[in-house]
Amino acid sequence: MEKTDVLILGAGAAGMFCAIEAGRRGRRVLVLDRARAPGEKIRISGGGRCNFTNLGIAPERFLSRNPRFALSALKRFTQWDFIARIDAAGIAWHEKVLGQLFCDGPATQIVDMLVRQMREAGVELRLGVEPGEIRRLAQGFEVDTPAGAVRAASVVVATGGKSIPKMGATGYAYRVAESFGLPVVETRPGLVPLTFAAQELERLKALAGLAVPARVSAGGTSFDEALLFTHRGLSGPAILQASSYWREGMPLLVNLAPGGDPGPALRAARSEQPRSAARTVLARHLPERLARHLETVAGIEGPIGAQSNATLDRLAGLLRGWELRPVGTEGYRTAEVTLGGVDTDHLDARTMEARAVPGLHFVGEAVDVTGWLGGYNFQWAWSSGWAAGQAV
Ligand code: FDA
Repeated sequence: MEKTDVLILGAGAAGMFCAIEAGRRGRRVLVLDRARAPGEKIRISGGGRCNFTNLGIAPERFLSRNPRFALSALKRFTQWDFIARIDAAGIAWHEKVLGQLFCDGPATQIVDMLVRQMREAGVELRLGVEPGEIRRLAQGFEVDTPAGAVRAASVVVATGGKSIPKMGATGYAYRVAESFGLPVVETRPGLVPLTFAAQELERLKALAGLAVPARVSAGGTSFDEALLFTHRGLSGPAILQASSYWREGMPLLVNLAPGGDPGPALRAARSEQPRSAARTVLARHLPERLARHLETVAGIEGPIGAQSNATLDRLAGLLRGWELRPVGTEGYRTAEVTLGGVDTDHLDARTMEARAVPGLHFVGEAVDVTGWLGGYNFQWAWSSGWAAGQAV
């Protein structure tokens, strides 16, 4: 029977970081992953440059049924701590926008750093191994693997969420949680493009491919970033962000004039260029195709000079609060993250250990903590992995 101190399931961002910490503390650590390579999501993230953290890490930028849960780990291992690791490894980086930090070179530098540091910390990594059932013993746990059972004093479940099944996402962590009686907060795709019903798609099809800066709100939370019209619906950073707050049946509010009320400018245009079409006036600030579409939605015919105050107010209102009604998301196929997960009420925020099952820890995306777009999710993986790594 193979024995180890710490068995970590999943060699993604959270699992590898946890392994390094535990190994450096002198623990005997074995990491198993069903994939052929570790850290595959790190490799493809951030368009191949890995947006590895964000300067603006704050608890309100994470979604969870208990928004305060993440605070402990995020405070004990911060974005600055991770930046120090990246600097020490000689990995060059830059800030893109909104505090988002990316590698200058390929994201594989981060995977290589983690694999090297695991090796230096004496961690054993085994790939292509799918763990099975986890059984609790009088002391520790026994985990089935195709090559026989492994016994460990602590088990860390770091197998991520359900996003991108093509890359090997399995939902294994939720099954483990449930097998130990730990509740799982309902999971759904997050940071995901939204889709329209066929009729709406038909109405908006002329806009496919357009990107515009906008303030997009869902469920009372707003994001000022780019919005992209696609052949299926909506995408772009503003939509991905809003998608985590959107629920079926909810409208999305799009503000195309977040800088202020466009009403006065429309009235000024009416007196200064009365023979122009409203779309021509709008096209000074918006793509022509979008200007034309909004003119139609507002029901405007004839030149701007012929429009009443009420009509111009309606157009201004549309620009500040265009209501769009997606019917769904593109699902886990393209979602960057999984919302929901192992219920934080049942985990210790300092150690990520299940309160009712001493020795069993959950880290990373498997937990009901989901960050905004922009490096927040990797920071959660590093911070939660670090926290468990100090305790196992
Ligand atoms: P992760 O999913 O990284 O790792 C889980 C590991 O467990 C994998 O190696 C998997 O093979 C393994 N596994 C799964 N099931 C298993 C099983 N049954 N048995 C054994 N092993 C199993 N975030 C961010 O902050 N900045 C960014 O730039 C991006 N970019 C990005 C792009 C794309 C396309 C996606 C899909 C996601 C992102 N993300 C992101 C999100 C980020 O990738 C994600 O939050 C972290 O990878 C989560 O880290 P974990 O270690 O928890 O899971």
